[in-house]
Formats: sequence, C-alpha cells, structure tokens
Amino acid sequence: MLVIVDETQERSSVRAANIVAKQIEKNRRSVLGLATGKSPVGLYDEIIRMHREDELDLSGVTTFNLDEYVGISREHPQTFYAQIHKNFLDHVNIKPENSHIPDGSVADFERNCDEYETSIRDAGGIDLQILGIGRTGHIGFNEPTSSLASRTRLKTLSDETIADNVSIDGDIPTIAITMGIGTILEAKHLMLLAYGNAKAEAVVKAVEGPLTSSVSASALQMHRNVTVLLDEEAAANLSNRDYSQRVVEQTAKYSPERLGLK
Ligand code: GLP
Repeated sequence: MLVIVDETQERSSVRAANIVAKQIEKNRRSVLGLATGKSPVGLYDEIIRMHREDELDLSGVTTFNLDEYVGISREHPQTFYAQIHKNFLDHVNIKPENSHIPDGSVADFERNCDEYETSIRDAGGIDLQILGIGRTGHIGFNEPTSSLASRTRLKTLSDETIADNVSIDGDIPTIAITMGIGTILEAKHLMLLAYGNAKAEAVVKAVEGPLTSSVSASALQMHRNVTVLLDEEAAANLSNRDYSQRVVEQTAKYSPERLGLK
C-alpha cells in the first residue's frame, strides 16, 4: 500500500488526477471506477481542466459508478447519477453509452445487481477504481459487517452514513445499491482519497488496523496495488508516517509514475 500525504487537498487532488490521466494515456480504452461524494470533486475538476486545456481525450474511456441511493428517481439532484453528471461526466467526452451508474429506481434489484456485475466483467474489469471513505470506515456503501467477499447488492445504510451524506427533502433513502468489497477488490488498481480531520480515525483503521468487516476499507490491505492519497489532517492519526514518507522517496527514484508526478 502506497500512502502519499500532501499538505493540502488541492495538491492531492492534482496528484490523483495525474494518476488517472496517466492511466488513460497508457490505455485510451481504460475502464475507470468512479466514486461520488466530496472527496473526488477536486480530482474531477482537474481532469476536466486537462480535457479542456491539455487535450486529454476520454472518448475511449468506460466508467462504472460505485453506488447509488435506492428509491429516488434519477432526476433528483441528490442522486449519485445527478452528482457524477454535474461534477464530471457532463464536462468530458466520455460517450454516454460507456458510463454506467447503478439504477436505484428499478423494480427487480437482484437482476439489476447481477447485470451490473456482468457489465463490469464484459468491459474487461476495472483498471483504476477511485474510492472515498465514510466515517464508519466504509467504501462504496459497504457498511460495517459487510462481507469482504460481497458483490453488487442492496445495503441498508447506517445512521452515521445517513447523517453524513443524505440531505434530501421528503423521504430520506435508507437503502443503497453498491458494488461489494469482492467487486472492488477485483479492480487492478485502487486509489482511496480522504481529506479532513473527520476522516482521520477511519483512515488509520483502514491502513494500520486489523483486517475486519467492521471497517470495510481495511480490505484494501488484501489488494496488491493500492494508493492512498491523504491531506495532513486525514493522516494525523497514522503511526507509520515516517516510514510512508521513506517509501514515497524511494518510489520517486524507481517508479515515479506511481506518485502522480508530472
Ligand atoms: C458515501 C459514499 C462513499 C463515499 C463516502 C465519503 O458513504 N457511499 O462512496 O466515498 O460517502 O464521502 P465524502 O467524500 O463526501 O466524504
């Protein structure tokens, strides 16, 4: 696990965007896993800038979103469908038929979830999966006690997650559709972004804590290619900071492309 701490979220977001851009330049038909929420917004802004100013071409890219609320229509501005369009997809040249977002408004969920898994497989699997982390240490909507082998399915949201994420007038969604931990672990490269002191406890549990379904992000410890991008505040509780810094310095010598340096 490569843990890279930047002074600010802005710097870290540019670094994350450079890693994504390198992936696309290496393979213009890359398959990206997209997260919503606040953490990746700066990364998406920078990719949009690169698309507009540096001619980064995303026309061959396919995307799969991690998760979506159940029970609200796609037109609602709080859906992850609306968020990812507003923050990213509407501003780059990814073909609409190549962007996949779980549909939380259909009736037959079992089939819907199975078909999502099949589409990921048919696309050749995810090359680079972008992840945020919830306060309970979850990735996607894989709340505590989610099976570490889980696949795309419905998941009941915890009170903390509802309080942190859902600000919807009317009926508040309490269920979501999410890629499972098993689905996420099959991506070739995982990139987790966490910023601010509200994330410090979840980050230390994920990176240094025991592997446990109580903190679904700890499953990242089982993956061979993980990059964790943090600002100082989110990294505040890590006890291995010096070692991580030395790893970053060595990586700069031997495989600088992994650091998202220009
Ligand atoms: C939700 C989403 C996650 C997201 C997390 C953090 O729980 N399901 O995919 O990573 O919130 O969101 P934020 O980046 O806004 O803190």
